[in-house]
Amino acid sequence: MFSVLLLEWDQLHNRRQMPWKGISNPYHIWLSEIIMQQTRVEQGEQYYLRLISNYPTIRDLALADDEAVFRDWQGLGYYSRCRNMLQAARDIYQHQHGIFPKTYEEIRKLKGVGDYTAAAIASFAFNLPHAVVDGNVVRVLSRVFADPTSFHTTAGKRKFQELAYQLMPKSQIGIYNQAMMDLGATVCLPRNPRCEVCPFETICKAKNKNEIDRYPSKKIKAIIKNRYFHFLVMRTGRQIYIQKRTGRDIWRDLYSFPTVETSVRKKPIFDGMPPEFPLPEPERYTQMLTHQKIHGSFYEVKPSATIEKKWKGLTKIALSDLKGYAFPRMIVSFLENKNYL
Ligand code: ADE
Repeated sequence: MFSVLLLEWDQLHNRRQMPWKGISNPYHIWLSEIIMQQTRVEQGEQYYLRLISNYPTIRDLALADDEAVFRDWQGLGYYSRCRNMLQAARDIYQHQHGIFPKTYEEIRKLKGVGDYTAAAIASFAFNLPHAVVDGNVVRVLSRVFADPTSFHTTAGKRKFQELAYQLMPKSQIGIYNQAMMDLGATVCLPRNPRCEVCPFETICKAKNKNEIDRYPSKKIKAIIKNRYFHFLVMRTGRQIYIQKRTGRDIWRDLYSFPTVETSVRKKPIFDGMPPEFPLPEPERYTQMLTHQKIHGSFYEVKPSATIEKKWKGLTKIALSDLKGYAFPRMIVSFLENKNYL
């Protein structure tokens, strides 16, 4: 009943189009799902089209230079997704003859692929009976069944997963899964849902009780950590010093400037710089990440031999070459505002 209503709505009323919808190339589907993990559709579409155009096959991606792929990813954020994507492509290329795995279990083992993504790929590409459960799906299910369980606990996750599997039809799994997500994204909206065009309007318990706003149960707000990053921007004429971030921290493998971090807002001391060195007033930028807020201060100074010696791994490049490197969003903003990029 549930799936019949949804599939009928999908056939007659669902107008949502996305470039990865209805395709069956598992590699392309996988790319789209990795991109869409923390991204809005409008933004993700361009990146998806660029990646499949630059790397049409797994082999192309597996053999690509890290730097080139990071450049193509620039702006999407959460670079661990990009690193995992490259690792997975190389694993498939080296150990599976470049052939994308065809079972849920094997897909689930790929780096960067969790339950949701494995179910999406398995059902879209191979029509395997795995229900997708993402934020959109949980919103629909929690409302239709007026279920107050929070999806943000292990038990809650399992509960919605079981419910989603019970509701799944025997065939057309991929179409059904996509329709669930589309319904959540276009009809069962977080605020002001369009119940008048919803196929579940008459059976929706939350709607019948007039309690739609109570579902889904809200996540308890995470504590946000403030971090203060001080960037030393050394430039002479048309040349600038950059440095790759290598530690196990945010922005790993992206390029930056020599950085000092403080836990409160205060003037930094850069290695190799005498304490009395007159630092200029910095330019400030902020960037929100999932659990942290980065406060960036950029201090532009003339390079000095002592500072250069203290900082390992500096690369001196021409400003015109900056576009060949991948930088965090905050640094791109700084470089753009200075007309360096
Ligand atoms: N988000 C993640 N995967 C998606 C898909 N296949 N369609 C729409 N939104 C998505």
